[in-house]
Amino acid sequence: MTFDVVIRNGTIVTAGDVFTADIGITGETISTIGQGLSGRQVIDATGLLVMPGGIDGHCHIEQEEADGTVHEDDFASASASALLGGTTSVVCFASHVPGRGMVEQFEAYRRRGGRSRVDFAIHQIVTRTDAGTIEQDIPEIARQGAAGLKVFMTYDDFHLTDGQFLRVLDAAKAGGLIVSVHCENYDAIRHVIDAHLAAGRTDAHAHATSRPPGLEREATYRAMALGELVDHPIQIFHVSCPEVAEEIARARHRGVKVSAETCPHYLALTENDLKRDGFEGSKYICSPPLRTQADQDGMWKYLREGVIGIVSSDHCGYTFEGSNGKARHGRDADFSLIPNGMPGLGTRMPVLFHTGVNSGRISLTDFVRLTATAPARRYGLYPRKGTIAPGSDADLVLWDPARQVRITNDLFQGNIDYTPYEGLHVTGWPVMVMARGAVAVQHGQLLRAPTAGRFLRPEHPTAHPAND
Ligand code: URP
Ligand code: ZN
Ligand code: ZN
Ligand code: ZN
Repeated sequence: MTFDVVIRNGTIVTAGDVFTADIGITGETISTIGQGLSGRQVIDATGLLVMPGGIDGHCHIEQEEADGTVHEDDFASASASALLGGTTSVVCFASHVPGRGMVEQFEAYRRRGGRSRVDFAIHQIVTRTDAGTIEQDIPEIARQGAAGLKVFMTYDDFHLTDGQFLRVLDAAKAGGLIVSVHCENYDAIRHVIDAHLAAGRTDAHAHATSRPPGLEREATYRAMALGELVDHPIQIFHVSCPEVAEEIARARHRGVKVSAETCPHYLALTENDLKRDGFEGSKYICSPPLRTQADQDGMWKYLREGVIGIVSSDHCGYTFEGSNGKARHGRDADFSLIPNGMPGLGTRMPVLFHTGVNSGRISLTDFVRLTATAPARRYGLYPRKGTIAPGSDADLVLWDPARQVRITNDLFQGNIDYTPYEGLHVTGWPVMVMARGAVAVQHGQLLRAPTAGRFLRPEHPTAHPAND
């Protein structure tokens, strides 16, 4: 049998195995894995790792804000950065801004995703709990194929009370939707921010001191207690430090259905980055904030043990210079007015590979589990996505583990004018990316058009957290 494409003699890495073989691809899917396969097109992968294309389970793309502005990284540009960094599927966020119904916003967002170069699933944000949202909209969002819901325990415009959160959990349970939670204690943070501002502490680093680890840990504990009460799986988003991970480990031990995610910036950057000169520190404002070096060092064991099962970018499309970006309130604005979040779609896999695999803190199979297999399972996309197996989509990244690259923002061709990793030297780079059987990136060139991506509807119930 002759396949359309054969990836020859690569070192195949899955979440469970590392072995050398050929991959035979027919159309958009993997047909077989074996030795000596023949193909109409043969790609020699000798010396390269062949891994499942990355799945970024948390990225803000072309997202509408409550003030009517839209994140500057749109589907076409953000998905370009994704591909150039080895990611072939994303899970992004439909807004729930005032004035329009949730279902309308979900449908409009899904249509905008028609400009994506990568396959995409959608989390639905929930910021209101009126009867229409709870009784009509959440069940309808579940029928429309949302990957899950996101709720916030902080931010002025978004946060839900515990009672509102419980109503969302009830509705999510009825609809079979996992609920992901931004865990920080709103009132306590507001209290510290006000005290900082009254004392004249307005610099970017005050962002970190206004949101200490204990307030993330408290909210995480509370979210898990509420999830336990309803007996419905929740996921803790963007865990920033070990004391939060430890709280999650304790809950998992007693059988609470909770899973967790972290992001490369909590593994590669620290709060010292917020002290950079002038307005530079604003580039590093995200929530929860960057923590200490000791916190960063303490995270890895939770990744190895699976307490934190996913590494997502939490990519945020705010520019540094643009009028809608970090400087939207001027370059002397106090920290509390600077939009939260930083870009990371393109850098997610190279930065994690460099900081985690090259240093021996995680294994190659851990890397694939954290960047592809676990997110596929958690969002009901496995085994179509997130692994290399007959019948799976041929979403593949050919990775040169020896390739040395100095990260610069222009490598990622997005609409964002900076990367927090500018100048970082990494070893290990995606040299070819395939998306559903077609070459999407080769020699740093982007070959996949906007509109090539498809909406991904979860095909299986979202996995029990203990299984990913
Ligand atoms: O700072 C962050 N993480 N901004 C993005 C929104 C969110 O909370 O995920
Ligand atoms: Zn969040
Ligand atoms: Zn986010
Ligand atoms: Zn905002």
